[in-house]
Amino acid sequence: MYPLKLLLLVCCLLSLNTLKGQSPYTRERWRPVLHFSPKANWMNDPNGLVYYGGKYHLFYQYYPGAMVWGPMHWGHAVSKDLVQWEHLPIALYPDSLGYIFSGSVVVDENNTAGLQRGKEKTLVAIYTYHDPLGEKKGTSDFQTQGMAYSNDGGYSWKKNTNNPVLKNPGIKDFRDPKVSWYAPEKKWIMTLAVADRVHFYGSTNLKEWTFLSSFGEREGSHGGVWECPDLLRIQEAAGGKEKWVLLVSIGNGGPNGGSATQYFTGHFNGQQFINEEAPEMVKWVDQGTDNYAGVTFFNAPGKHPVFIGWMSNWLYAQQVPTSPWRSAMTIPRQLKISTLHGQTRLLSEPVPAAVASLKKIVPDTREQLIENNLVAYSMDFKIDLTKYPSNDTVLIARWNNTAGDILLLRYIVSQEMIEIDRTQAGVHDFHPEFGKIIRGKRIKKSNELKIHIIMDHSSVELFADEGSLAMSVLLFPRQHLQFFSTLL
Ligand code: FRU
Repeated sequence: MYPLKLLLLVCCLLSLNTLKGQSPYTRERWRPVLHFSPKANWMNDPNGLVYYGGKYHLFYQYYPGAMVWGPMHWGHAVSKDLVQWEHLPIALYPDSLGYIFSGSVVVDENNTAGLQRGKEKTLVAIYTYHDPLGEKKGTSDFQTQGMAYSNDGGYSWKKNTNNPVLKNPGIKDFRDPKVSWYAPEKKWIMTLAVADRVHFYGSTNLKEWTFLSSFGEREGSHGGVWECPDLLRIQEAAGGKEKWVLLVSIGNGGPNGGSATQYFTGHFNGQQFINEEAPEMVKWVDQGTDNYAGVTFFNAPGKHPVFIGWMSNWLYAQQVPTSPWRSAMTIPRQLKISTLHGQTRLLSEPVPAAVASLKKIVPDTREQLIENNLVAYSMDFKIDLTKYPSNDTVLIARWNNTAGDILLLRYIVSQEMIEIDRTQAGVHDFHPEFGKIIRGKRIKKSNELKIHIIMDHSSVELFADEGSLAMSVLLFPRQHLQFFSTLL
């Protein structure tokens, strides 16, 4: 008995320590430690993010048949703390109405759909059916909204027998329903991406939906089709001002090319969203290349919405060199708002549990050797900008390895731009758009530039000035980026 107990204790300590003590680099090449990734095959958007019964449920666009996009299923994982994820069986499979595209899950607290059996609240999934046959035939109504529900807290799902719950009015791109509860009128709101607009629908029972309004004509960026919207109400930390925030991913035209997520701030009155900014103003959730289709959890505990994005870009997602899986999610982030220079800005910060799970490396002015097997860690920089002439480019940090890969972090003072230079940071020949310098415009104008960085094997996530500028960037170094130096 005694040696077995000892063995169990040692195993337990080792597993508790996987993040702080770092898992060995000998794991699959480029597999992140902290970021969620599927065991194998293709993943894209996070779907149906919901907190219920003490667990965060993450569903995701999943093709179990290959490492490229294909007939979509909903993969499934759960977590108690947004750090350690447990993989679960596939939740939703394609059926005669089509593939299961992106969508959301709500907890039907008041049993508005009448589907509750027993004590457990019903979890209702509203998602897009994409009918590949209709698409092939050249019809324009091949995307509709379907419904499924769970009576056991999200672990098993039944499809509604009367699908679809929302038919297509003849618009090709008609998808990604994000459902939320509008308490003042005790009704559900569906925020739907329709071509390059958002349409709002209302319902009292999740089964019958009425069109409310359209938003987006001449508003924000239209570099591509609009996808995966999310409508949120966020309270400003200091003072308690409340704003509505509308997240909208766009398939193309992001600040560094390809797909990215913009946001609008303003007011939602139960019917319509009113943008408070000039229509041509474009604000980005993340100015890096690799954060797309992000949405927030329904019912998450705590004051701040919790967001997860897909950490890739449609430009090259299907060519990135990982195997046997493709794609990871961003670190879960808390969203806040703040007024900066007269504008409402979204602040994203990694959730505290994720930060606490990571070892913090203190940047030193000598060249540092990052512990051999340390693949995930955080770093903080504070830069006093009064020290640098206005025409300067400040080399904030440099990571390298013995294979000759170099990752650079710079700040261009005159342009107020942070640069993450991955042009020499490892493998990039899988796509001509990958090996580029990625630039993010600073939002806050102060003499102290604060940067928080999370490295995790094949990605850098950067949060500057309390998260008013976030940049998520993938990279594929040929060896672990082992050495670090800063010239600050
Ligand atoms: C966004 C998206 C969604 C769609 C899904 C299909 O990345 O194109 O609009 O529902 O992916 O996998």
